[in-house]
Amino acid sequence: MIETIKNIEIEVNNFEIINEQSLENFRLQFLSKKGKISELFEVFKTVSGEQKKEVGKTLNELRILADEKFNSFKVNFQSSQNKNSQEMDYSLPVNALQLGTEHPINKVKNEIISIFKTIGFSIAYGPEIEDEWHNFSSLNFAENHPARDMQDTFFVDKNPQGNFALRTHTSSVQIRLMEKEPVPIRSLMPGRVYRNEAVSARSNCFFHQIEGLYIDENVSFADLKQTLYYFVSQFFGEREIRFRPSYFPFTEPSAEMDIFLGTETEQDYRLTKGTGWLEILGCGMVDPNVLINCNIDPEKYTGFAFGMGIDRITMLKYGIKDIRQLFENDIRFLKQF
Ligand code: DAH
Repeated sequence: MIETIKNIEIEVNNFEIINEQSLENFRLQFLSKKGKISELFEVFKTVSGEQKKEVGKTLNELRILADEKFNSFKVNFQSSQNKNSQEMDYSLPVNALQLGTEHPINKVKNEIISIFKTIGFSIAYGPEIEDEWHNFSSLNFAENHPARDMQDTFFVDKNPQGNFALRTHTSSVQIRLMEKEPVPIRSLMPGRVYRNEAVSARSNCFFHQIEGLYIDENVSFADLKQTLYYFVSQFFGEREIRFRPSYFPFTEPSAEMDIFLGTETEQDYRLTKGTGWLEILGCGMVDPNVLINCNIDPEKYTGFAFGMGIDRITMLKYGIKDIRQLFENDIRFLKQF
């Protein structure tokens, strides 16, 4: 039996372990329950008394030898595995951090703000959920004005104590400002507004406006014209502008301002419906009723206001044909600005 053990010892020593698979084969061949060493232990039970001591000792040595060989390779493989996972391969290509870009609407908004800042306008913000007073009544909207209808406005809460809606324009911020700020006021109010409209390439149920308000003594329509002319010259470059009489409940007189694009390019022709003129904003002198609603004396103070759609101007500036593209967050679209 000693000889058999010695032979297996040679086999153990000669067994080449090169990878995990061969380590497993080694275990199966020598150390498993049905392996050669277990078999020897079975045979050992039949060994007679005087041989038992020597055979037992040799057999144990064999088992220790095989165990140690197995364990040392096992540890080797494990540690080289860990090493692999810890070591970085600096040559691998990385997923480059995807930096966002400034949204075209923010770009245009900031550009407009910076132009008005140079002539002393400050910036103010108001809530997007607005009560009926700030969005309509204080701005002189008649009780039965269609904008107060659910067809046009998203009401959040309609109850006898007071109705709340998603603001339909940033003009509501004018009121909030006049209620709390002392005159003179010279402010720009950007923000998101909401209307219950069918979504299409040209209109969306939410969009962005920027509102302007200037209240002081002796503010005249000429100041309004000059201010807007300055804005247009800075934003669009030297261009003709014109004012057309219009109507807004909160201004009197009211006007719409157009800029001259011409009809030379196909886009200009289409945008201006062949006239060369494109409407850019609404404006006017603040209605005395609105001043009274904000506890400002209309005998002493006058003011002008204007409001424009940022989305429309953005589309004009970049030649974007569908307003919905501005809100789809498609990175391929946004990266272009
Ligand atoms: N609030 C108007 C709208 O949403 C725009 C507007 C027109 C604002 C005239 C003004 C203004 O401040 O004076 O259509």
